Amino acid sequence: MANPNLSDRGGFGSKFGIIAAAAGSAIGLGNIWRFPYVAGQNGGGAFLLINLACIVLIGISLMLSEFVIGRRAQRNAYGSFKKIAPGTPWYLVGFMGVVAAFVILSFYSTVAGWTMEYVYQSFANGFAGKSPDGLKFMFEEFMGDSWRAVIWQVVFMILTAGIVLAGVKKGIEKYAKLLMPILLVLILILCIRAITLPGAVDGLEFLFKPDFSKVNGRVILEALGQAFFSLSIGMGALITYGSYISKKDNLTSSAVIVSFADTLIAILAGVAIFPAVFAFGINPAEGPELVFITLPNIFLQMPGGYYFSIFFFVLLAVAALTSSISVLEVVVAYFVEETGLSRKNATWIAAVSITAIGVLCTLSQGLVPWLNIGGMNLFDIMDFSSAKILLPFGGFLIVLFIGWVMKPADVRAEISNDGKLKLPLFKVYLIIVRFVAPVAIALVFLYSIGVIG
Ligand code: PFF
Repeated sequence: MANPNLSDRGGFGSKFGIIAAAAGSAIGLGNIWRFPYVAGQNGGGAFLLINLACIVLIGISLMLSEFVIGRRAQRNAYGSFKKIAPGTPWYLVGFMGVVAAFVILSFYSTVAGWTMEYVYQSFANGFAGKSPDGLKFMFEEFMGDSWRAVIWQVVFMILTAGIVLAGVKKGIEKYAKLLMPILLVLILILCIRAITLPGAVDGLEFLFKPDFSKVNGRVILEALGQAFFSLSIGMGALITYGSYISKKDNLTSSAVIVSFADTLIAILAGVAIFPAVFAFGINPAEGPELVFITLPNIFLQMPGGYYFSIFFFVLLAVAALTSSISVLEVVVAYFVEETGLSRKNATWIAAVSITAIGVLCTLSQGLVPWLNIGGMNLFDIMDFSSAKILLPFGGFLIVLFIGWVMKPADVRAEISNDGKLKLPLFKVYLIIVRFVAPVAIALVFLYSIGVIG
């Protein structure tokens, strides 16, 4: 019997809706929390340059490829591969995406929980009167008492599930449209305050002056992984969203605009963070806590910083939400379309199981430090394995699928809206998905594990 869940799938309502929803997925903690901390650990300028090369050479085309697969097939990530290449094992790529969604959302919700704690601390004026060391201590104390972090994480997951339950158009599009532009304005204001701090120049140099002596295989893999994580590519989130895009929308311009906006926000986050890191004597290689111990210092140096910090952390939590819903949607669309579960049951089953793993990630950072393998705690393992293994490997297979499995005529028809749009760069795109992207990803993998180089 046909699965009734496949007929009424819903969809985005407008051109701006798709850009807002995909940008909502891309822009999140990856830009404002992860980019500065990973750039800080990997030497700054050279990392940024390699990260930008990965976005331009691979990222944009991969985003477009995910949109193409999803909109062509009108299915979840797993079902899309099954429909386009029936009787082949390609559906495993979609399945891997579902696994990656579990991994990512488990630690993503940990960090989103930290953000919510900082919303609370902002309201409670908890940063007032603290020195840079005091602010660091405050974060560490909070982590040590991880039940608090767990509670925020659970609250965050309930909000995520609630929005996913409301469905694509009502739930996802509405929030993203309004709030992402406001976030951009707040970050710009933060940048202005940061670069007028004494000693700001050192931070700008760190971010923009490449020192290639610091580059090695690890740095390159980090830069590639960060590009994938930040653009939400490699696991089918954008295949799933692609399946909700109207046949009239321009996929290429959407991919370019979203990638550009995402990259801009990450760089601006760097411009806001690094001058402050140097001005307040914080170690740029501090790790995942970098942003949480740096930003409150800036707020304390701003007129109206109390209100500003509330506003900022609320919006950061919302940015995290518009990303986390896209991750959960991968799992929910899979359950609904492939197993026939209702949207409601699918959402709760996915959310509860992800939260269970997520709580372990949070505890591994504080109360239960023995949740580690070889010195890497569960949180770090999830972060590492998603950005540096699952997403690049998934991306590698997706470009191979588009480049070598789908018929070029079908790809062209989908990107050109059945011939209605001109595609002057289609050849370049084909060269990227067939050769440049797969070879580059494979080389980065081999180089980083020391097989070549
Ligand atoms: N791109 C999101 C961010 O930068 O915060 C995180 C993310 C969302 C990663 C969706 C992967 C994904 F599929």
